Amino acid sequence: MRTQVCIIGGGPSGLLLSQLLDRAGIDTVVLERRSRDYVLSRIRAGVLESGTVGMLEKAGIATRAHAEGLPHTGTYLAVQNTGFRIDFDALIGKQVLVYGQTEVTRDLYDAREKADGIVVHELDGVELHDLDTDAPHVTYVKDGTTHRIDCDYVAGCDGFHGPSRQAIPKDVLTEYERVYPFGWLGVMADLPPVSHELIYANHPRGFALASMRSPTRSRYYIQAPVDDPLDKWTDDAFWDEFRRRLPHDSAEALITGPTIEKSIAPLRSYVADPMKWGRLFLVGDAAHIVPPTGAKGLNLAVSDVHYLFEALTSHYRDGDDHGIETYSQTALKRVWNAIRFSWWFTTTMHRFPGQEPFDQAIQDSELRNLQTSVNAQTVFSENYVGMPY
Ligand code: FAD
Ligand code: DHB
Repeated sequence: MRTQVCIIGGGPSGLLLSQLLDRAGIDTVVLERRSRDYVLSRIRAGVLESGTVGMLEKAGIATRAHAEGLPHTGTYLAVQNTGFRIDFDALIGKQVLVYGQTEVTRDLYDAREKADGIVVHELDGVELHDLDTDAPHVTYVKDGTTHRIDCDYVAGCDGFHGPSRQAIPKDVLTEYERVYPFGWLGVMADLPPVSHELIYANHPRGFALASMRSPTRSRYYIQAPVDDPLDKWTDDAFWDEFRRRLPHDSAEALITGPTIEKSIAPLRSYVADPMKWGRLFLVGDAAHIVPPTGAKGLNLAVSDVHYLFEALTSHYRDGDDHGIETYSQTALKRVWNAIRFSWWFTTTMHRFPGQEPFDQAIQDSELRNLQTSVNAQTVFSENYVGMPY
């Protein structure tokens, strides 16, 4: 088979790139290792930047996001059980949209299906070949048969553990990494959210986050040791710990009940540089990971898609390769800004092992500065709703 752009990975970045390119008349094939149901069962991000929503509109898949998503014009931060609000709309005239990654992915799959887009599922052994030539190709195994796709370009949208980044020679790639000494224990529950906006709480017992997916579905997290056995965290144990870390008024209002999902995720910052090698582009988690504090992971994947989409359309439509040649530098500039913000927000909000009174006092001062300085709140808002592309 031949296509113009072979996309490895059918997560949000691969599907969005495929949908946008298809609408611009550029052929793609998406190769996804898992089944569609499996991809749609992964619970992940929940907050979309305004630029991300703009990209969904551009891809023609924003109708349900606008109908069912919850626009948030601000967020609460809390320290020592007392909350304060940052009003993005008043400060910079922007908002975010609470709409789950699962729903974005579902909308994308529906759109690809409607457009008869090719998405090959449940395959194995993806290998990338001749990336440093003008004629790259990708091979994979499905139902015991090896298939080959010849293409102009390969988009590596295959997440942190996928084969695309591994195809870049070790001596070409510089990797930057910070692993944080704790995880996030997350639960989903069909219960009304404790607050109409998100609460990010700094507490002596550790960080907590109150988020949501809808007016009847709550998504809550607490900082926890990454290797804690899940069976230690009964629903009661989770609710007790979560309640202790919330602002007092929210703790009183919290409605508890059975959870429908519970898992612990590690926190890391990671960047691979360059994000382009020969005819291969890395996109989203294949190139970078942020800790979840600040909800940047999915949004960053979408901004990579924006830059790559612009680069590929300029190439095919105008014969202009400037965007292709500068993709890595352009994408990395925005990536590093989100890496910096997520690192800062993580460092400010969590309890670190061995944290001393000095560190706690600095966190308290940082949050007091945010509470009282309009300038600090403006900088926070710009970063939280997302820098322009
Ligand atoms: P992915 O979503 O990882 O998609 C990659 C796709 O490639 C997958 O479907 C995978 O099956 C496929 N693939 C992998 N290997 C191969 C292969 N060999 N062949 C073919 N296909 C392959 N971000 C937030 O902003 N907020 C959150 O709360 C949040 N929670 C998260 C929780 C977890 C457990 C994880 C892992 C991530 C979370 N993130 C969160 C980050 C966010 O979900 C990611 O940034 C986002 O999914 C990136 O999209 P992507 O398409 O680049 O990668
Ligand atoms: C969610 C996750 C985040 O990491 C975040 O900062 C905000 C919300 C969520 O899953 O809803």
